[in-house]
Amino acid sequence: MLDGRDGPAVQRAMDLLMRYGRALGAERLVQTNNVVASISATTPFMRDYAMRRGGMDGVFSEFSLDSDDTVEIPRVKTFTTHVQLGFDPHNAALMGVDEQTVQFYRKGEAYITGLGVQAANTCTPYQVGNIPTRGEHCAWMESSAVIYCNAVIGARTNTEGRESVGAAMLTGRIPYWGYHVDENRLGTHAVRVETTVESTADWGMLGYWIGDMVQDKVPVVEGLGPLPNLARLKHFGAAASSSGGVEMYHLVGVTPEANTREQAFGRNTPAQTLRYGEAERRQTWEKLNATGRSTAVDYVMLGCPHYTIEQIWEAARLLEGRRVSENTALWIFTPRAIKSLADRNGYTRIIEAAGGHLLTDSCSAMSRAAPKGTRVVALDSAKQAHYLPAILGVEAWFGSTADCIDAACTGQWRGGPR
Ligand code: F3S
Repeated sequence: MLDGRDGPAVQRAMDLLMRYGRALGAERLVQTNNVVASISATTPFMRDYAMRRGGMDGVFSEFSLDSDDTVEIPRVKTFTTHVQLGFDPHNAALMGVDEQTVQFYRKGEAYITGLGVQAANTCTPYQVGNIPTRGEHCAWMESSAVIYCNAVIGARTNTEGRESVGAAMLTGRIPYWGYHVDENRLGTHAVRVETTVESTADWGMLGYWIGDMVQDKVPVVEGLGPLPNLARLKHFGAAASSSGGVEMYHLVGVTPEANTREQAFGRNTPAQTLRYGEAERRQTWEKLNATGRSTAVDYVMLGCPHYTIEQIWEAARLLEGRRVSENTALWIFTPRAIKSLADRNGYTRIIEAAGGHLLTDSCSAMSRAAPKGTRVVALDSAKQAHYLPAILGVEAWFGSTADCIDAACTGQWRGGPR
């Protein structure tokens, strides 16, 4: 490939991977047939670039292959799903996006699918058909997806970037280092849970606290109560990879590489034993609500990471027969494929009848879009509560899904620590 046998794009991709691998100290490349990537160009900067470099091949050459000249990009070699994008094309006007940008987006999507990339357009590819097997070597972008892939599924990936995944999809290779290697997946820190962790908000708070405490290490969590479902693990991992850089964790008796404490730590001795009790839970809740001042909520955003069908079902049940306040907007984000299921199940109708919106492909942090005039938001995601005040300059309240739906319907934040 490096000799150009498979054409100039593959040659550049392999050259990039070799440079990347050497910089990381990787001994070799490993084969992958599972990539989660972004090759989109939805920002004005990328759009202008596409105009100057002869279209999307020019964008791919520059931003995914580090190539000064534009090369023709062949169809991808590996199974690749696309991550979230800059906005929802079906709700562009609602998100404040003009028609010209939508037209460009549609061209970009035709390019993406033309290359053979799946237009899943989500930060939760594992919800919509990209579920690797345990031990499978992957090359994934998006921190909340990476941690889910490693810890919950037991597949193997580092947090890749646009360049390395662009090269991986054309070559089927990625450097063998980091979380591809057995020993790097072993636990480093013990975490003892001494309070009830049950709801999705509880799991978000626990993840947020752990990320803050261990940063980019591998926590092993013990003392858990009820078994978490997909949504709770999704919120837990997303939070831990926001307050810290956690890419791998173990829940003893729950996640696949932690049947026992001994298995989770392997030959490692825990560097520290941390305790998460009622005081730590309270501090985390206060931290996540640190920007909240006014209780008059303008905007409720749910679906970070993108909502599961179970979460949409729950939101629809909480909303049924109620109306979103005229002073508040409710946007819920989910993958397109899940939205079509919600449409068929009647949940979209319930949400829309209440005055809310079910959106796809993006979120407020990605799109930097919120309803006009938003000053105060309510969120059920610790990750979104971490990012949105900084990105949009808003006040944020964090609480349960029920607290958030209540805020949407009353226009008031009435949530509390429990
Ligand atoms: Fe997904 Fe946006 Fe959250 S892309 S993980 S919903 S910040």
